[in-house]
Amino acid sequence: MTAPVVASTRAELAAVLAASRAAGHQVGLVPTMGALHEGHASLMRVARKHVGDGAVVVSIFVNPLQFGAGEDLDRYPRTLEADLELCEREGVDVVFAPTVEEMYPGGAGADMTTVEPGAVADVLEGASRPGHFRGVLTVVAKLFGLVRPDVAVFGQKDYQQLALITRMAADLCLGIDIVGAETQREPDGLALSSRNRYLSGAERLAATTLSRALRAAQARAAYGLPAARWAAMSVLKSEPSVEIDYLALRAADLGELPDYPEPGTLGRVLVAARVGTTRLIDNLEIVLGKA
Ligand code: PAF
Repeated sequence: MTAPVVASTRAELAAVLAASRAAGHQVGLVPTMGALHEGHASLMRVARKHVGDGAVVVSIFVNPLQFGAGEDLDRYPRTLEADLELCEREGVDVVFAPTVEEMYPGGAGADMTTVEPGAVADVLEGASRPGHFRGVLTVVAKLFGLVRPDVAVFGQKDYQQLALITRMAADLCLGIDIVGAETQREPDGLALSSRNRYLSGAERLAATTLSRALRAAQARAAYGLPAARWAAMSVLKSEPSVEIDYLALRAADLGELPDYPEPGTLGRVLVAARVGTTRLIDNLEIVLGKA
């Protein structure tokens, strides 16, 4: 195994990527905020599949722009050494780990250009975390500009984020192939997340309620939205330590659905909830219909 080249400045990144480009190799980007786990490793493998012997670049940057006041920016885990080991194990070629000053050299004040997402950013996560997706799209656009990847891989666990980034790439004609990779789960169903490490033992057990609720909705989806919603809500409400933020059943593009869509319509059930002080999100595909 060869250790990845670590670039912490934009100039270093440009220098290492120039060689790849000169050799005509494809570049695949996996943007992350670090605290890497198996879920991220699976994104790296998807990127590798896409670029073959090209360069897989992982960015590690806790982006202050996407955290609201009172959110977990300060306590967000920063584990660079372990992250680099995981990247090495996965055969990553380049890790870009800039400082905040390097990413936002002029500061991130009101005069900075940001990316304004479309209306899909106003619901679900966007309604609970105002400004979050502006911060996400802005940093992702900057990473795209710095890395100029052929393909970029994001997890389906952040389904709304994936939808908005896919839309940004299309609407702004960025010419980057956006790939959504399957959510990775613990054997008991809990979706892998860097935030799982905040959970105490009891909270960790309670956290499985989210994926159980999603599966309950999935199992009832053929009977229409009301039945699926009721099934998921019953599971969520059975665990008093889970504070529900939202449970939503939406079309695959996150638009609204009628209660009884055409049989076979693909949708998504999405949940956000607080377990103790930790806010978790998860989602699953559902196949809707009328039994
Ligand atoms: O999903 C994440 O880890 C972040 O939102 C991302 C895409 C790296 C942007 O900071």
